Amino acid sequence: MAGSTTDAKAFDLAAMTAPVKAVEGFVADFLEARPMPANLREAVEYALLGGGKRLRPILVVRSCEAVGGAAEQALAPAAAIEMIHAFSLVHDDLPAMDDDDLRRGRPTLHKHTSEAMAILAGDALVSLAFELVATRVKDANLIAAICRELSIGTNDMIAGQVCDTLPDWDESLEPIERLEIVHKHKTAALLRASCRMGGICGGADAKQLNALTRYAEAIGLMFQVVDDVLDVTQSTEHLGKTAGKDEAQDKLTYPAILGLDASREEVERLRIAAMKAIEPLGPAAEPLRELCQFMAVRDK
Ligand code: IPE
Ligand code: IPE
Ligand code: MG
Ligand code: MG
Ligand code: MG
Repeated sequence: MAGSTTDAKAFDLAAMTAPVKAVEGFVADFLEARPMPANLREAVEYALLGGGKRLRPILVVRSCEAVGGAAEQALAPAAAIEMIHAFSLVHDDLPAMDDDDLRRGRPTLHKHTSEAMAILAGDALVSLAFELVATRVKDANLIAAICRELSIGTNDMIAGQVCDTLPDWDESLEPIERLEIVHKHKTAALLRASCRMGGICGGADAKQLNALTRYAEAIGLMFQVVDDVLDVTQSTEHLGKTAGKDEAQDKLTYPAILGLDASREEVERLRIAAMKAIEPLGPAAEPLRELCQFMAVRDK
């Protein structure tokens, strides 16, 4: 294992991302079999299949394996969460939201097509995610359990985006409390759903699911703190999305409230909390540990 290295390049990316191929294949098969207008299909595929780290699907699969399940059991929720994530990015980039031109090194979907198509493709991605689960998972109890996690995660993410974009705060809340509310919702919620769905598909007992949930909550918040730091410290070219955007739009971020050093300390605190949370899962959780270490030091 790479330990607490500070270099993202020290990780075995091929091993870490091994589940991605199967998930992408699952998504492609599902989309191919699903009739839709050609221009909508092009937009959905552009948003979904054109790059991205695929960390959420990897978390679903690795969480399933961490409790003794097999990767194949987790492919449907892994595909579904990436659809929800892709929707969140397409809408996040819209002119009425963050108004971004660049995503994953390419024009954002509304620049590539049109604003109307980006709105509709985002809508489609949400319902396709649930259709995929409802039609590709065989066990009715499992469908219900996955849809529960997926819908809670999606709605919490949307609540976070509302707080981020249209803040209407209770005046008694301190800036750091507001920040935590935004980040736990807009970002941690989908990572939490990822780990919980993987655990559920792998047959996790209550203790295992609790460990995965606490791990996910820690890496979920950590993920957005790192995103905020990268927005300040990396170039647009390196990130493949517009750097310096948060300050330009006066966003509530960790570097803005705490400064860069304290933000990095927060990343370290959360990394340790996540590693501790999955101690009870033993060696089967080693890929989740590796992912956590990587997510703490990633540079894009
Ligand atoms: C970007 O997520 C949006 C956030 C929640 C910070 P990722 O950094 O996972 O984006 P991709 O999927 O790799 O492009
Ligand atoms: C991500 O927040 C929130 C989402 C749910 C999409 P950001 O607005 O910081 O994400 P990026 O930096 O545009 O990827
Ligand atoms: Mg945003
Ligand atoms: Mg944004
Ligand atoms: Mg950001």
